[in-house]
Amino acid sequence: MKGYLLGPKNLTQNEILLLEEGKKVFDEFLYVPITSLTLDDGKVLFNGKDLSDFDFVLPRIPRTYVYFGYCVLSLLENEVYLPIKPQSLFLSHHKFLTLLATKDITKIPKTFLSNSDDILKKRLKKLEFPIVFKLIYGSLGKGVMFADSEESARSLIDMLKRFQEPIFMEEYIENPGEDLRVVVIGNEIFAMKRIAKAGERRANIAISGKGKKVELNEEEKELALKLAEKLGMKICGLDFIQKDGELYLIEANVNVHFLGITQATKVNIAAKMINFLKEEVKTRKSFLERLMKWLKEIKEIRF
Ligand SMILES: Nc1ncnc2c1ncn2[C@@H]1O[C@H](COP(=O)(O)OP(=O)(O)O)[C@@H](O)[C@H]1O
Ligand SMILES: [Mg+2]
Repeated sequence: MKGYLLGPKNLTQNEILLLEEGKKVFDEFLYVPITSLTLDDGKVLFNGKDLSDFDFVLPRIPRTYVYFGYCVLSLLENEVYLPIKPQSLFLSHHKFLTLLATKDITKIPKTFLSNSDDILKKRLKKLEFPIVFKLIYGSLGKGVMFADSEESARSLIDMLKRFQEPIFMEEYIENPGEDLRVVVIGNEIFAMKRIAKAGERRANIAISGKGKKVELNEEEKELALKLAEKLGMKICGLDFIQKDGELYLIEANVNVHFLGITQATKVNIAAKMINFLKEEVKTRKSFLERLMKWLKEIKEIRF
C-alpha cells in the first residue's frame, strides 16, 4: 500500500508523528509539501513525477493553500482514497462557513458578519457582553478576542476594519474557561476537556490550556459523527463549548493538532489515524477489484 502526506512546507510535530507511524504500516509513505506540486494538464506532478498510482493521500493542507489545495484534491478525488472531501477545506478553514454548514444539526453561537463597522457598532447596543471577535482563519487561539464592554468592542471593530475583510463577531457562550476537543477518526471518537489557564478565557493547549480525558455520552458521540459527515471529513477535530448540558459547536479543524489529546487520553492518535487509513484503503481496493471483475464478466457475456 502506497500513500503520501500532503502537508505544509514546514512540518509540525503532528506531521512528523504521522510519518513515523505511516512508515511502520505502509510499503511507501512519502511526504509531499503542497508547495512542490504542479497541476499539469489534469495530472498532479511532484518533482515531475505523476502521483496517480498511489492508493491514498492524507491531506494536511494549510489555510493559505485552500484554493490550490481544493484544485489538487478535486483532481485526486476519484483516483485515490481521500479521508476528506475537497470542499472540507473551505468548510473547515473558514470559521463562519463551518457554523453556517452545521447550524441545522448542532447548537452554535449567534454570529454576526459584516463589512460595515457602523452596522456592527449599532448592533452592539442590543447585545450582552462579553462578545467574541474572531479572525475568520485564525487558529491555536490566536485570532480570538473578547470585548467586555461596548466601548472595548467599538475599539476592536475599528482595529479589525483595518484588515479590510468582513468582521466576524460571535455570541460569548458562558463557560468556566473550558471547552471540549473531540477528535473523530472514522467511527471512533476521542475527547478531552480543555481548561484555560488562570486569567485566560481561551482553552487552547497552544496557550497553556490543560487537557483532561472525558467520555462523551451517546447523544454527543452521535452529534460529533453527524458533524464530521456533514463537513465531509472522516478525520477531524471539533471544538465545542458546553452550556446548560448542551454542546455548542465553535469550530472544526481539518488539520487537527493531536499532541494534546494524545497526552490526555494516552491513546496514540497518530497510529489510530494511520490504521484507519489502512482499513479504508483495503476496503476501497477490494471494492474496486470486485467492480472490475464484475465489469469483465459483463463484457464477456455481451461478446
Ligand atoms: N463563542 C465563544 N464563547 C466562549 N468562548 C469561546 C468562543 N469562541 C471561542 N472561545 C474560546 O476561544 C478558544 C479558541 O476559539 P476557536 O474558535 O476554537 O479558535 P481557534 O481556531 O483559534 O482554536 C476556544 O477553544 C474557547 O476556549
Ligand atoms: Mg479551536
